[in-house]
Parts: sequence; C-alpha cells; structure tokens
Amino acid sequence: MGRLNNKVAIITGALGGQGQVAVRRFVEEGAKVLASDLAARANGEVAALIRKKPARVAYVGGDVRDGKVVEKIVKAAVKKFGRVDVLYNNHGLMVGKPFLETTVEELDQLLAVNLRAPFLLSQAAARVMAKQGSGSIIHNSSVGGIVGFPTMAAYGASKGGLAQLARSMATDLAPMGIRVNAICPGVVDTQMPRRYLKDVEDMKAAFEQMAAMHLMNRLAEPIEIVNLALFLASDEASYMTGGVIPIDGGLTAI
Ligand SMILES: NC(=O)c1ccc[n+]([C@@H]2O[C@H](COP(=O)([O-])OP(=O)(O)OC[C@H]3O[C@@H](n4cnc5c(N)ncnc54)[C@H](O)[C@@H]3O)[C@@H](O)[C@H]2O)c1
Repeated sequence: MGRLNNKVAIITGALGGQGQVAVRRFVEEGAKVLASDLAARANGEVAALIRKKPARVAYVGGDVRDGKVVEKIVKAAVKKFGRVDVLYNNHGLMVGKPFLETTVEELDQLLAVNLRAPFLLSQAAARVMAKQGSGSIIHNSSVGGIVGFPTMAAYGASKGGLAQLARSMATDLAPMGIRVNAICPGVVDTQMPRRYLKDVEDMKAAFEQMAAMHLMNRLAEPIEIVNLALFLASDEASYMTGGVIPIDGGLTAI
C-alpha cells in the first residue's frame, strides 16, 4: 500500500526542481496527480510519467496568477480523477534585490505569484474538499518567510504572508476536515538559487557561503523537502494543521 493510495493531488510548479521530484514521489506512493506549471506542455520527468501512466498523471499548463487558469487546474483534477484530496502550492518565484532598489512591479509580481495565486488555488480546491469533508493543503513557503535576509524583503514578505495564510486558513477550514500547513525550506539545490547567483563572479564561493548558513553546511536536496510534503499530504499527518515548519538544515536554529 502506498502512503497516498486513492488520493488525488494537485501539484503546482511541477516542472521545477522540487516539483518534478514531488510528482514522481506522489505517484510512487499511489496518488493520482494533476501537475501544473507555466509551460504549455509538460516536459522532462513529468512528461515521461504521463506517457507511462496516462491514467494516473495529467498536466495543465498556465500562469497561476490568472484566476481562469486556477479554475481550469482544479476543474481538470475533478474531471479526470473525480476529487481533490491534496493541493501542494509548490510554485514560486524569487527576486533578490536590495530593499531600496526593489520596484513596485517586482513587489506586485512576487505577491501575485507567491501569495495571491496560492490563496486562489486554495479557495478553488477547498471548495471541492469541503464537499468531501477532507483534504490537505500544503504551501511551499521559505525560511525567508520566517527570518530576514538581505535582498529578500519582497520575497520574504510574500513567503511570510504565505506562512500566515496557512495558519489562518487552518482555522477556517478545520471544521470542514481540511488541514493546512506551510513548509519553510532553507536553500534547496534547484535552479532557483542558481538564478539568484547568476551574476556573481565566484559562483563556487557564493554557494559555499550559502551552504554555511545551514548548521549542516550544505543545501537541501529536493527529495528532502518533498519527503515532508509527502508526509503532510498523507493521513500520517492527521493531527497536523496550522503548522509552519522549517526544514532548513538548522538555519533558523541559530
Ligand atoms: N530553491 C530554494 O532554495 C528554495 C528555498 C525555499 C523555498 N523555495 C520554494 O520552493 C518552491 C519550489 O521551488 P524550486 O526550488 O523547485 O524552484 P524552481 O524555480 O525550480 O521551481 C519553481 C517553479 O514554479 C513555477 N512558476 C513560477 N511562477 C509561476 C507562475 N506564475 N505560474 C505557474 N508556475 C510558476 C516555475 O515555472 C518553476 O517550474 C518555490 O515556491 C520556492 O519559492 C525554494
């Protein structure tokens, strides 16, 4: 028996570094997965999985800032798989810029992607879950939503808002049997930190500095974050709601 047998999960940011691993692991644990990301068509590991298991994995492309795309994603999950048990709001955008140089357009974009879209996706999915009387919603926040980092004011505000959204949603949705939790990773080895550091002269030294912020002196592997998402999605986490959970190699312990 897989840990997610008979569950239907929506995973956003599904073509990203963590998303691809999440789709694969959720499917391995028995879930049916509606994957979504910006690209019109699935690629990489997700495309291969759809070819291999077309009855168990589907993909909807689009920008989750668009309310119509949000509705399309949730409707597609219900149409193809009949229900929605898990929403993993995993998509995200990072812009790192000094506070005084951050433009209002950059702030608006970060809030729209990292906070407004998960809000809308959660509303659409929770309406389905409420009828079922159960569900688990997981937000991929960040340690940047818990503590302050230079150049991360706008990103941190969006992720801090996302963490608070988990707590607040949990209070509204508990009577409907819906759990809501936020995951707060430290730096994860995906394209996201690479894009952030793309202009630094000594990339290797910059990565070593980043690694040194964590007690474990390394970045997280995507699977290490996905393992927590998997747990929160499963019935093993039946008593967990309103949690804002650092998973950061000890970064926020110091
Ligand atoms: N990598 C890290 O160091 C780190 C640390 C803490 C939190 N996180 C969070 O983890 C999550 C996954 O990130 P990742 O590390 O896999 O990075 P990633 O850049 O590989 O993946 C992010 C995915 O989100 C998608 N996305 C961005 N904007 C979108 C939009 N408007 N509509 C639809 N999809 C959109 C991207 O296309 C991409 O595939 C993000 O929410 C990120 O903020 C990452």
